[in-house]
Amino acid sequence: MNAPLSSAQENKPMQPAGALQGLDVEAVRADFPIFAQEIHGKPLVYLDTAATSQKPEVVIDAVTKVYREANANVHRGVHLLSERATGLYEGARDRVRRFLGAASRKEIVFVRGTTEAVNLVASSFGEPRLEPGDRVVVTAMEHHSNIVPWKVACERKGAELAVIPMDENGDLVLDGLDELLDERCKMLAMVHVSNALGVVNPVKELIAKARERGIPTLVDAAQSVPHLAVNVQELGCDFLALSGHKAYGPTGIGVLYGREALLEGMRPYQGGGDMIATVSFDEVTYNDLPYRFEAGTPNIAGVVGLGAALDYLDGLGFDAIAAHEDELVAHARAALAEVPRVRLLGSPRKQAGAISMSLEGLHPHDIGTVLDSEGVAVRTGLHCAEPAIRHFGVSASVRASFGVYNRREDIDALVVGLRKAVDLLG
Ligand code: ALA
Repeated sequence: MNAPLSSAQENKPMQPAGALQGLDVEAVRADFPIFAQEIHGKPLVYLDTAATSQKPEVVIDAVTKVYREANANVHRGVHLLSERATGLYEGARDRVRRFLGAASRKEIVFVRGTTEAVNLVASSFGEPRLEPGDRVVVTAMEHHSNIVPWKVACERKGAELAVIPMDENGDLVLDGLDELLDERCKMLAMVHVSNALGVVNPVKELIAKARERGIPTLVDAAQSVPHLAVNVQELGCDFLALSGHKAYGPTGIGVLYGREALLEGMRPYQGGGDMIATVSFDEVTYNDLPYRFEAGTPNIAGVVGLGAALDYLDGLGFDAIAAHEDELVAHARAALAEVPRVRLLGSPRKQAGAISMSLEGLHPHDIGTVLDSEGVAVRTGLHCAEPAIRHFGVSASVRASFGVYNRREDIDALVVGLRKAVDLLG
């Protein structure tokens, strides 16, 4: 079982620096082969974990082992290799079920990532239930993957996409929530931790409000799963989406959690192999859950790698991860505030994993290029969350995002790089 839900960084008051508990960062770094190299002759300072995390050796090994020792298709062969591959694949499903605290393995659907998971729910669950005049509610800080699928569904059915606003700190404004979650609302889909701003949303409270009114909920947990213990039964959500690659797992693999009773009633999303029971030209019958939503040969090695990544995260422990990352956020906020021209985008009540900033008069892409020359990797631009960044009146930002392998020295290198960028570009 996961550790209980942990707190994320409380910006007010800020934690004292040096409160690291339980995470031996140098040992963690030794688990990640990528840090053995230099970038432009400098040590790699990786502050782009929100875009994709680095992978520990155990994940790389798990993926390699599949191809070396167990490579065959799953659910499709009577031969030993196929049985081996199927065992690893289905074992990882059990692993994910335990990690998320789901009631049944039928509720764990493997998909390409959060984007595919949300598209699946919007298409197979949301759209068929929408009538003209209905409403889908999202927050002002969604990733595009939790805006566009709902926008498409709403446009097709003459429904409205409505937004829970956020304030200048980046916190959701919940005053008008009762009006938004009225009888017209057919879905509440919201991000747990903002990829662009690092804001941690009170999703448990929002889910409870929606449930009182019989409104189904989806949580985009892509950015929370690497940082906080996430338990679907504690949250009470109907659907939850995550991406393996943001949680120290491989790219191209993700999970849709769906409540069994809801998945049972949903139309198939994609047609093909494995999702069927019988096929004739006159009639198709569908497979049981969760296979009904896993058309085609899946990303077998990716699933096994994801299982290894979840083992790795649980091995570190979410209390230790949260304490470590809280300290990084606190240190970064304090240190960045001292850099000339820096404006931090938002000062939310809780923040995890990412900080966005603008530097007055300087273009984020130019800053990113200077930082890269120093070996510092950040993301610049809109971070696939354009409304969240434009909310602060800027057209792009520099985002530093953190993982279990980051040290205080990484933040210090970022600060040195930003000062250099100000000198060079200013
Ligand atoms: N959505 C990813 C990010 O936050 C790619 O950078």
